[in-house]
Amino acid sequence: MKIGNIELGDTPLLLAPMEDVTDPPFRYVCKMFGADLMYTEFISSEGLIRDAAKSVKKLDFDEIERPVGIQIFGHNIDSMVEAAHYAEEAQPDLIDINFGCSVKKVVSKGAGAGILNDIPKMVKMTEAIVKAVKLPVTVKTRLGYDDQHREIVDIAEQLQDTGIKALSIHGRLRTTKYSQPADWTLIGEVTNNPRMHIPIFGNGDITSAETARHLIDTYGVDGLMIGRAVYGNPWIFKEVKHYLTTGQLLKKPDIHERVKIVKIQLQRSVDWKGERTGILEMRKHWGNYFKGYPNFKPFKLRLMSTESHQEVLSIVDEIEQYFSEEGK
Ligand SMILES: Cc1cc2nc3c(=O)[nH]c(=O)nc-3n(C[C@H](O)[C@H](O)[C@H](O)COP(=O)(O)O)c2cc1C
Repeated sequence: MKIGNIELGDTPLLLAPMEDVTDPPFRYVCKMFGADLMYTEFISSEGLIRDAAKSVKKLDFDEIERPVGIQIFGHNIDSMVEAAHYAEEAQPDLIDINFGCSVKKVVSKGAGAGILNDIPKMVKMTEAIVKAVKLPVTVKTRLGYDDQHREIVDIAEQLQDTGIKALSIHGRLRTTKYSQPADWTLIGEVTNNPRMHIPIFGNGDITSAETARHLIDTYGVDGLMIGRAVYGNPWIFKEVKHYLTTGQLLKKPDIHERVKIVKIQLQRSVDWKGERTGILEMRKHWGNYFKGYPNFKPFKLRLMSTESHQEVLSIVDEIEQYFSEEGK
């Protein structure tokens, strides 16, 4: 399976872009476990053009992450084209357009999933970006704006006609809350539409190797994009791949493996952002990595109250010792 000239193998597994989660240190550990294609967190086109430090920093990626896509969002076509040029200079493998973000402050400006309210503009913006850059352009979007506009089958055809090289579809509407399950029916319709020839990646509620198998078999997607199930769980890529090829479930990683991986992410976080910010950025990950471990709370409180790399490392060593004695 290919996006432009990028070879991704059969049924690739993609890491979904997630603001404040899928930064380079976390992407590194996902890559270790076999993520086939990863994206930066979404980057504001206006921020990039203004050279805002936060947006520019999000362009960072490590060579080892390749193939990697830079994802941009915005409501203004000229700004999006300019931002796509800017992103291209960072030399990723592709540029992805975010037409899926449902956060109010993004949607209210007509960006992200807000543009699902104006399909002609969505198509025009995509066309302009495809024309402006040499890299392959992909799109990530949802099923439609709301229940009266479940238009993805038609939207997918129109986007394909602009020259995009792949489409990721999150099985929710702009208005669907995360509390409602993703609906893959229309994703299947897009995949099975004989007019479609670009790869279609399905996204939404892939929680395990078995779900992955079921969704591939039922909806025939070309690949899967995994989001929240990677929280504290970069192993999921290896688990899914192993299950898809052998039908066997892998054992869950033990405490030693968890500690090994979390230390790699921690080190990269400190290297990338400096000690203080690197440690702060890790705070959202601790609970995820040790979810389900009884009596983890006192360790977590200590991890949340230090800004010293050395101290974090010694707490993590204590965690490993404590839970290996517990036999976890
Ligand atoms: C914390 C968080 C941040 C997200 N940030 C982005 C983003 O920057 N770009 C994007 O296209 N989607 C973003 N999403 C949506 C995810 O990429 C994905 O489409 C969604 O979570 C559904 O997949 P899942 O059920 O596997 O989590 C975000 C989701 C979450 C939970």
